[in-house]
Amino acid sequence: IKRSFSSSAVRNVVIKNVTIIGGGQMGAGIAQVAASTGHSVTLVDMTDDILKKAMKGIQSSLRRVVKKTFSGDPESGDDFIQKVMQNVSTSTEPSAAIATSDLILEAIVENMKIKQDLFGFLDKMAPEHTIFASNTSSLPISDIASATSRPDRCAGLHFFNPVPLMKLVEVVATTSTSPETSESLLNFTKALGKTPVCCKFLNPCLVCPGHPWVHRHASKEDIDTGMKLGAGYPMGPFELSDYVGLDTIKFIMDGWSKKEPDNPIFAPSQLLNKLVAEGKLGKKTLEGFYKYNK
Ligand code: NAI
Repeated sequence: IKRSFSSSAVRNVVIKNVTIIGGGQMGAGIAQVAASTGHSVTLVDMTDDILKKAMKGIQSSLRRVVKKTFSGDPESGDDFIQKVMQNVSTSTEPSAAIATSDLILEAIVENMKIKQDLFGFLDKMAPEHTIFASNTSSLPISDIASATSRPDRCAGLHFFNPVPLMKLVEVVATTSTSPETSESLLNFTKALGKTPVCCKFLNPCLVCPGHPWVHRHASKEDIDTGMKLGAGYPMGPFELSDYVGLDTIKFIMDGWSKKEPDNPIFAPSQLLNKLVAEGKLGKKTLEGFYKYNK
């Protein structure tokens, strides 16, 4: 049967019930943050022992949080921990939780075949509106999504470690991810108190600013936010380039490109060359990648 996109499949989903598969470092951290922000969470792993350890980890992490945020009021701190822990249940058999999930997020082992098997299995059980997300660090989301009949409702949701402390979440849309799915995930990450950035590819920021490859995968604003919140840089690469001066950056890049003419990372950046030719050299001329006031 040809799948039709029913109205329930394309609407924005308000994410309330979350199933997290994999209760390791990342899954437990995400469960803690989601439960702390009022979401109903089911944490799934392969054994009860692993889940017990995960719950213990969440509880001690919450104690550290509470020590800071409720320092003068330990009773309210205890209440908070109790409420948060009530929002998390655990299971080695997720079918009941899946049936009521708005979002299923996997944070299991970094292996394509295992992630595909999981998504294929979940696809048969989850309601039509349920969004599937992967916390993968390196695997193409489109390949994981190909194991499902709902690639429009699959995306990457890439958290940073340690999850309770790191503000950044990358929302990774494939060419098949629907705008409604991206929107729902953006709203969810904001509800977690995180700062989402949108990208089509993970960590696109490790190459030179202005390189055409970079722009195809994320906006300069999102790359700058990503490098500040995710990698702890005081300035993003575009802000830093404007600060240094784009003529200087061009000089450096031309030098690298001369040294390694075959390395695509150092290929001339048309955008950088254009800005320099137009005299837009960054902060010192009040315009570069960004515009500045006097
Ligand atoms: P981890 O090894 O701490 O936890 C993985 C958990 O998944 C384990 O508890 C394991 O028992 C469970 N698991 C494995 N296969 C399963 C299955 N089929 N069903 C249910 N549970 C299963 O790994 P970690 O560090 O939490 O990473 C998880 C994912 O998050 C990976 O895809 C990784 O690339 C990604 N990631 C990791 C980051 C890090 O700093 N560790 C940062 C961002 C993403």
